[in-house]
Amino acid sequence: MTEDPSGWTASAPGWIAHIEEGNMAREVLLDPVMSAWCKDVEGLRALDVGSGEGRFCRMLTGWGAKAIGIEPTPPLLAHAVRLGKAGAYVRGVGEKLPFTSAQFDLVVMYLVLIDIPDFRAAISEAARVLKPGGKLAVANLAPHASTLTTGWVRDEAGQKLYYPIDNYLEERAMIAAWKTIEIVNFHRPLSAYMAAFLGSGLILKAYEEPSPTPEEIERNPDWQHERRVPYVHAMLWQKPT
Ligand SMILES: C[S@@+](CC[C@H](N)C(=O)[O-])C[C@H]1O[C@@H](n2cnc3c(N)ncnc32)[C@H](O)[C@@H]1O
Repeated sequence: MTEDPSGWTASAPGWIAHIEEGNMAREVLLDPVMSAWCKDVEGLRALDVGSGEGRFCRMLTGWGAKAIGIEPTPPLLAHAVRLGKAGAYVRGVGEKLPFTSAQFDLVVMYLVLIDIPDFRAAISEAARVLKPGGKLAVANLAPHASTLTTGWVRDEAGQKLYYPIDNYLEERAMIAAWKTIEIVNFHRPLSAYMAAFLGSGLILKAYEEPSPTPEEIERNPDWQHERRVPYVHAMLWQKPT
C-alpha cells in the first residue's frame, strides 16, 4: 500500500471521531451561513468537493438535493457510503472532477480548499461543472490568522494579547496536528484565492466572517477570541448565466 502523504488516510479514524464529537467551527460558525446559502436545493443537483465522512452531503440530501460527494481518502469515503445513500459518493480529487461540464446547480467546498494542493485547478473545475447561474458555496479557514499558525501572543498570565501576522503573502504547506489527527494544510493569502475565483469567471454574491452571537459567548466565554480574530470565512460565488 502506498503511503498517503497528505496524512488523511492515517488520520481518518481520528477525523471521524472529531466530527462525531461536534466542533464549534462547523456547528456554531459555518453551518448557519452555509445552510442559509445551500438549503434551497429540493430536486437540484449538488456536488460536495472533499466530502470527507459525508456530513455536509447528508445535510444536502436531507434538504432534498440530488447530492454527490467526491472524496480521495478511502476510509472517509467508506464511512460516508455506510451512512449515506447508494451511489452518492465517488472517489476523486477536486483538481480533476470526473463530470462533464455544466451539470450541477450547486457546488460546495466546506473546509477543503486548505487541503487541496492545486487549489487553482480545483476552483476552475468547480466553475466548469456548474450550470450557468449555478452557485459555489465555500467555507475555509481564515488566511489572515488560522492558516498562518503563528498562534496568539500572550502575557505572563497567559491572557491573549494579539494575533501576529507574518509571511502572509507566501503560499506554503504546513502540518496541522491535534489529538490523533496529523494532516497537511496549505496557507495562501486571500488575494491568491480571490484571483482564482475571479479568473474562473465567477461572481461574488456574499462574503461572511462568522463569529459567535453574544448569547453563545455568554454560554462559552472562551469563544470571545472569535470576535477578535475570526477563525473561518465563507463566500458565495455564482457562475454567470
Ligand atoms: C477538513 S476535511 C473536510 C471534510 C468535509 N468537507 C467536512 O466539512 O467535514 C478535508 C477533506 O478534503 C479531502 N481532500 C484532501 N485532498 C483533496 C483533494 N485534492 N481534492 C478533494 N478533497 C481533498 C480530505 O480527504 C478530507 O476529507
